[in-house]
Amino acid sequence: MRGVSGPDLRRAAAERAVALVTDGMRLGIGTGSTANVFIALLGARVRDGLDVVGVPTSEATRVAAEAAGIRLATLEELPELDLTVDGADEIDGAMRLIKGGGAALLREKIVAFASRRMVVIADAAKYVETLGAFPLPIEVNPFGLGATHRAVEAAVAAAGCTGRVVLRRNAGSEPLRTDGGHHILDAHLGRIPDPEALSAGLWAVPGVVEHGLFLGLATGAILAEARDGAAHVT
Ligand code: 5RP
Repeated sequence: MRGVSGPDLRRAAAERAVALVTDGMRLGIGTGSTANVFIALLGARVRDGLDVVGVPTSEATRVAAEAAGIRLATLEELPELDLTVDGADEIDGAMRLIKGGGAALLREKIVAFASRRMVVIADAAKYVETLGAFPLPIEVNPFGLGATHRAVEAAVAAAGCTGRVVLRRNAGSEPLRTDGGHHILDAHLGRIPDPEALSAGLWAVPGVVEHGLFLGLATGAILAEARDGAAHVT
């Protein structure tokens, strides 16, 4: 018998999330491979007559949602959203998240903050006891990058974390640029004992635009795991 694959798990989580969407909703639409499955399923429901409008969290999501036939708006046009559905890189028992593996964390956080509800869809393997095995993305302004890098390292140490902070590069080895024209520093920390303290410390660094710790934003999580040869969501 064929095993349950990552795509099966992503689909199971996205299917459950699409079932939460009702006519007239204003949606935040997340970024990443799991969000892309949600976009495809949402597009199918739109073609069947569902009337929703979405705010994309990245240029990649904008392109995918447009191709799926989903009506889109900006946060200027729709400053309040009913529901955001997005993936995550890690989630803990308090629904604290690490996001930004796809470099979309700034728009993802702005959209989640503007939403009454944020539901995370993910493979249950993303669930962790302690955040930090996944490198924490920190979006920084290109101006004064070296100074900001040092200040971020100091903020990380002051929050009781150890590890390397590395500038993310694209496939051509150039410093990666986000949709907002910023860079990403990835903090390889192993574990983050106090996410709230680290969040506050990072925000105190002027060159930090945003970081990938999503604290108090997720209101629900749909996690999919393989059991008895099938994908199950909890
Ligand atoms: C993008 C994100 C993604 O939601 C996160 O990286 C998870 O992606 P995937 O569903 O592909 O595992 O935060 O910035």
